[in-house]
Amino acid sequence: MHKVRIVQKLNLPPIERRLEAMKEAGFNTFLLKNRDMDMLTDSGVNAMSDKQQAAMLEADDSYAGSETFTKLENKIEEIFGKEYFLPTHQGRACENIISQAFVKQGSIVPMNYHFTTTKAHIVLNGGTVDEIFIDEALNLTSDNLFKGNMDLAKLKDIIETNGAEKIAFVRLEAGTNLIGGQPFALENMREVRKVCDEFGLMLILDASLLADNLYFIKEREESCKDMSIREITRAIADLSDIIYFSARKLGRARGGGICTNNKDIYMKMREYITLYEGFLTYGGMPVGVPVVTPSGGLGCHINSMEFVDHIPQNEYPAGALVAALYIVSGVRGMERGTLSEQRDENGNETLSHMELVRLAMPRRVFTLSQVKYAVDRIAWLYENRQLIGGLKFVEEPNVLRFFFRKINKFFRMGNRISSQVPGGFWRQSVIRS
Ligand SMILES: Cc1ncc(COP(=O)(O)O)c(C=O)c1O
Repeated sequence: MHKVRIVQKLNLPPIERRLEAMKEAGFNTFLLKNRDMDMLTDSGVNAMSDKQQAAMLEADDSYAGSETFTKLENKIEEIFGKEYFLPTHQGRACENIISQAFVKQGSIVPMNYHFTTTKAHIVLNGGTVDEIFIDEALNLTSDNLFKGNMDLAKLKDIIETNGAEKIAFVRLEAGTNLIGGQPFALENMREVRKVCDEFGLMLILDASLLADNLYFIKEREESCKDMSIREITRAIADLSDIIYFSARKLGRARGGGICTNNKDIYMKMREYITLYEGFLTYGGMPVGVPVVTPSGGLGCHINSMEFVDHIPQNEYPAGALVAALYIVSGVRGMERGTLSEQRDENGNETLSHMELVRLAMPRRVFTLSQVKYAVDRIAWLYENRQLIGGLKFVEEPNVLRFFFRKINKFFRMGNRISSQVPGGFWRQSVIRS
């Protein structure tokens, strides 16, 4: 339980301005200059507690030997039972260190599903990613409760076909970000561990979204119902050789970190910490809208392929929907589909498995009336979805293009949408909230 004590003013500009803003941003929600209802991400934007804020003031920012580092190191050991800890400035910094330390030219990294920055670092170091999700993982409306599970037969097959020496490590991502925040089961992780042991491979856990995954294990996995969250955490940690996390997500804080009990592994990664991160002890929806089910963590994931099924995948349905949603609501979401992929080496588009619009729910940030407002606008857009047209590139960066891309206007939507949206709605809803 908590109560709200500090608030931040939001703007909800009129629809005409939203349309202009979307055009200026090249129909890319990343490029909006934003102080609106922001459901782009929960990364680094969760509400911090009074104690967390106070701790930031008390933090010891000594250039070496910071007391705050020791406090954090002790906490990590208490929670994960890992002796060695390397602090980083965020999650992708961990991925950089881990990839530099363990990925070589030709390495393969099997994983339940990739995350954008993870894959970019592995590829940058000469490796490739092999996704071995279960078949159900891509079923958007499945009743499988653990769509983040790894397919054990595929894992074995990859190792046997390529030889264990080619496998840099096996990566398990908690709360799989790109497929709707879906969890893995503790039982599945135990089996993955057995395969890793059989072939002498490291198992690395991306714990950035572990909090959601823990909740789902406790709620959905029969054999874990009587375990506490701390006990489940420790069981998962004991199965991992390395745990890394973005603390912008895990812990609703800032920064990130890597921990392990293996001194050799730690020493290998530590070399890179000073180079990239600094010295070790520096202070530091229910109206029929198609969504991913069962619900995952992170936020709400709208299935754009179904929402705007008149837009072909090569016109980026999730990108089109997220831009349209901003215009009709002022709610900024994130495209998690083909635009978040890279083209292949021949410049061909890599169509993603899913076209999702992710509306993140940063913890403790929005009130229920704000969420209801977003739901109302999504429902309106769904009823009027034929207004939304596809997108095409006008400016396309080579790496992680979703951040800086610019896209041409909607083929269909143009200015018509502004006259079709009931203009007074948002004002009313602001008054209500
Ligand atoms: C699963 C996962 N891994 C890694 C990262 C990268 O973390 P950061 O944004 O702190 O660099 C994220 C961030 O969204 C994530 O969700």
